[in-house]
Amino acid sequence: MSVVKRWGPYTQMSSLTANGPIVIDKAEGIYVWDETGRRYLDAHAGLWLANIGYGRPEIIQAVTQQAQKLSWFSSFGGFANRPSLTLAEKLVHLLEPDGIGSVFFSNDGSEAVETALKISRQYWKVLGRAQKYKLIGRQHAYHGVTMGALSVAGITANRQGFEPLLSGVRHAPAPYVNHCSYHDSRTPCTLACAREVERIIQFEGPETIAAFIAEPIQAAGGVIIPPPEYLRQVREICRRYEILFIADEVVTGFGRLGEWTGSRHYGIKPDLMTFAKGITSGYLPLGATAVAPYVMEAFLQSVQEGPELRHGNTYSGHPLAAVAALANIAVIEQEQLLSRAAKMGDYLQIQLENIAHQYPNLVADANCVGLLGRVELFASSTGPGKAAAAIARYLLDHGIIVRPVGDVITLSPPLIIEESEIDIISETLTSALAVL
Ligand SMILES: Cc1ncc(COP(=O)(O)O)c(C=O)c1O
Repeated sequence: MSVVKRWGPYTQMSSLTANGPIVIDKAEGIYVWDETGRRYLDAHAGLWLANIGYGRPEIIQAVTQQAQKLSWFSSFGGFANRPSLTLAEKLVHLLEPDGIGSVFFSNDGSEAVETALKISRQYWKVLGRAQKYKLIGRQHAYHGVTMGALSVAGITANRQGFEPLLSGVRHAPAPYVNHCSYHDSRTPCTLACAREVERIIQFEGPETIAAFIAEPIQAAGGVIIPPPEYLRQVREICRRYEILFIADEVVTGFGRLGEWTGSRHYGIKPDLMTFAKGITSGYLPLGATAVAPYVMEAFLQSVQEGPELRHGNTYSGHPLAAVAALANIAVIEQEQLLSRAAKMGDYLQIQLENIAHQYPNLVADANCVGLLGRVELFASSTGPGKAAAAIARYLLDHGIIVRPVGDVITLSPPLIIEESEIDIISETLTSALAVL
C-alpha cells in the first residue's frame, strides 16, 4: 500500500516521502515559521500573492465578523450577498481606467481564466459569429490547471500528461528578449514576436479566432518581462482583427508591478481581465473575471431564454472571500502599497544590477518590474535548472524562500518589504553565487 496520504500539488512525492515537507505553521508580515520554529523570509509571497503580508488583524476581524453574520449563501439565480455586491462596485471603480465595467466571481486563477475563455467564445456566438471560437495563448504561459486554462498555457511539461487538450488553440512565441528566436542578443529588438501573433491570426483567419490571452509579465514561465512596446502592439493587432484581448492579471494585479494592474503599467486596455492571488493576498481563495462594458452589454442583449451565461461556481461571490478582498484592498490603499511596490522595485533593481555586475559569468540577466523580479543564470554544465535549484536551496538553508524556474530564480516578495530586507535577500544571493 502507498505511504502517500496527502498528494501535494506540483510536488515530486517520490522524493518527498524520505524527509517529508516543510510544514509551515505560522506567518507574520513577510516571515513564515515552520513547525520546528525555523523562520524564513518569504521572498516569494507564498506563490506570488501575499501582497499585504501575513497575519493582518484587520482582515481576520473582517472575515470573522462576516462569518458570524453570514458564512455563505448561494449566488445563483436571483440571490446575492452584500459583500460580493460591494466588492463588485469597488473593483469596477478601481478598474475603470482599465476599461472594465463588470465582474464575475469564482474561486481561483484557473477558474477566472476558464470563465474568461468561456465568456470570449460565447460573446461571439451572442453576436452571431459562432465561427470565431479559436484561442491564442503563448509559449511559456501559465494560466492554471483546468483543461481550458491549461490548453492556452504554454509550459510544455505541464501540458504533456494531459493531452489531447482543447482543439482550436494556437501558441504565439513569448516576448523573451534574452531567448529570442528572431534576433541574437547583439541586434536590437524589432518586436518580431508581436508580428508573429499577427501572422498566426492571418494564417488561421481572424474570422475563426475568439480571443488572445496574455499575462502582462509571464510569471511562472520565469518572470519574462516583455519589451515596453510589445503589449501595446499586440493589443492593437487584436483590435484590428476583432479578437478579444484577455489580460491574465492573476500575478500582476493588485500592486505587484506598482499599479493596480499590469495592463495599466504597460498602457493597454484589455477586453477581459482575470484576477486571483493578490486580490485577497491569500487570506481566502477568490477569482474574478472582469469584462469591458460592451462585453456585458452583448450578453444582456442576447435573446437566449434563462441565464445569459450558463456558468457559475457554488462559491461564486463567497461572502467571506469578498470581505477579505475588500479589507485587503483597503490596506493597499491606506498604506499606499502601489507606490511602495514601485519604490521598493527601484531599490531591488539596483541590487539586482549590482549582482549581475559582480558575477557576469554566472548571471545572464537580473531585472525586475515593481516587486516581480528575476535572476537568470547561464545554463550550467551540470544540466538545465541545476544551478538555480542549488541557489534556491542555499537561500532556503539560510532562511529565505525563493522559487527557481528553470535557470531563473524568481522573486516576488510581499509589497510591505523594507529596504533592509531586500538587502538581506541580495546579500544572501551574492554569497550563494560566490559558492556556486
Ligand atoms: C498568471 C496565472 N494565471 C492563472 C493562474 C492559476 O491560478 P490558481 O493556481 O489560483 O488556479 C496562475 C497561478 O499561478 C497564474 O500565475
